Amino acid sequence: MGNRVCMSRRTLAFFFWLKATFAMALSMAGLGYMVYRIYVLHRDAVAPIGTTPKSVPIPIDPASAVCRRSSSLAPLEPPTGNTLIGYHYDWSYDTPALFANRVGLRPAVVNAFMAMQPSATNALDWNMLSWHAWQVSLVGGIFQLSIMPTTLTGIPDEAYTTIAAQIKAINSERGVPMIVRFGHEMNGNWMTYGYKPSQYTTEFRRITNAIRAQTNMTAMMWAPNIGLSYPWTTGGVIDLPTAATDPTNFALMDTNGDGKLDGGDDPYGPYYPGDEYVDWVGISLYWYISAGANTLIQDGYIYANLKGSITGDSAVGLNLTARNFYDRFASAKNKPMALPESGAPWVASAVTAATTTTELLVKQSWWTQVLSTQTLQVDFPLLKLVVNFEEKKTDTAGTADNDWRVGNSSVVYTPYASFINSKTNLVLANRLSFSCGGTLSVS
Ligand SMILES: *[C@@H]1O[C@H](CO)[C@@H](O)[C@H](O)[C@H]1NC(C)=O
Ligand SMILES: *[C@@H]1O[C@H](CO)[C@@H](O)[C@H](O)[C@H]1NC(C)=O
Ligand SMILES: *[C@@H]1O[C@H](CO)[C@@H](O)[C@H](O)[C@H]1NC(C)=O
Repeated sequence: MGNRVCMSRRTLAFFFWLKATFAMALSMAGLGYMVYRIYVLHRDAVAPIGTTPKSVPIPIDPASAVCRRSSSLAPLEPPTGNTLIGYHYDWSYDTPALFANRVGLRPAVVNAFMAMQPSATNALDWNMLSWHAWQVSLVGGIFQLSIMPTTLTGIPDEAYTTIAAQIKAINSERGVPMIVRFGHEMNGNWMTYGYKPSQYTTEFRRITNAIRAQTNMTAMMWAPNIGLSYPWTTGGVIDLPTAATDPTNFALMDTNGDGKLDGGDDPYGPYYPGDEYVDWVGISLYWYISAGANTLIQDGYIYANLKGSITGDSAVGLNLTARNFYDRFASAKNKPMALPESGAPWVASAVTAATTTTELLVKQSWWTQVLSTQTLQVDFPLLKLVVNFEEKKTDTAGTADNDWRVGNSSVVYTPYASFINSKTNLVLANRLSFSCGGTLSVS
């Protein structure tokens, strides 16, 4: 297969700006209102007809002797040859059960983002957290909780022990296993917690220790952003550290020791909390429209991104060895890997008279490449979870309306569901069972 991929850095920079505006919106006061609104919208929701809660081991006691962790696979890692299929929803109108009824696929994994405010009495909003867990329990899946800390300093132990107790309650009372993705995309400038590897790795270890002390039914995921264009210097919410402003993080990030932070540095290593703290590794990976036009994804795009096998202008000045995420963090460490958020967009406002492709063709080009036998069974056998980002995101300038969803329109989801159902290595919640020790079985 062709592994040569040339991407315009300007295009990438533009789309990371879109991400930045989204992150900023999340981190602002609007979050509180949004959370409240979603909670009110859904607190009285009932399981839709046709969706029966799956049999889950309720109640279980994660602290009992039977809840020991197995040594052969990571927690919630499916056996070799299986890849879990998951979704992140726009919770303002969609839920896993509505999706399951509509599309006919029960998500194996469901993502939600939540802010962690260490100074609050309840660092994670318990009403919201338990509502999400309940929604996941209705389809019998795994809850991927992406925790976005509002700060990485001065976090008291109680914040983590409270969160760990809440997670244990979700595991034991709802029977919902969890994957905690703490501080995702910490290697980017669009998160307030970005570019702080010293504090980030410390906090990842602390929350991991707190959770593991209470339950084995939750796995810890470390998931930076794809590092092709690392480091990002424009459009974000934070600046790169310098030797003057933040000597500790500057030194950690200047991996080649040349006194500057640029593409010659390692986008991942400085942020890695350590083998014993990380159960799963993951990478946010998306396709974007190019030169303002909807296009099919390039051949070899997934391979090139995960292996750092980039050529052409985009490769100049980059340490490509350091960008081989799959070999360094999945293969070499034998850890299961995820694309915890991913997808290809359709941008309706970019459709012109010259457009020859369709939303279905664009999205099909994504799922057939990511979920192909070549990708999952040959090139990346440890890629055991792929989560599609089911949102339509409009940037503040209103120039783009990236619709990443496969489940909104039947024109897309009917062929999509047929594809998923045709491959026995792609696993949905209806084939899963869990133990309180974190062992996952696939029927
Ligand atoms: C998790 O499993 C380990 C290994 O078997 C065990 O030592 C530990 O007590 C278990 N932890 C909990 C909270 O059950
Ligand atoms: C590139 O990154 C790899 C992996 O981190 C490292 O071993 C190597 O020394 C780096 N090369 C340069 C030229 O910095
Ligand atoms: C499709 O998305 C819109 C919002 O973009 C939402 O209002 C609508 O309910 C969705 N329809 C389905 C079938 O998911």
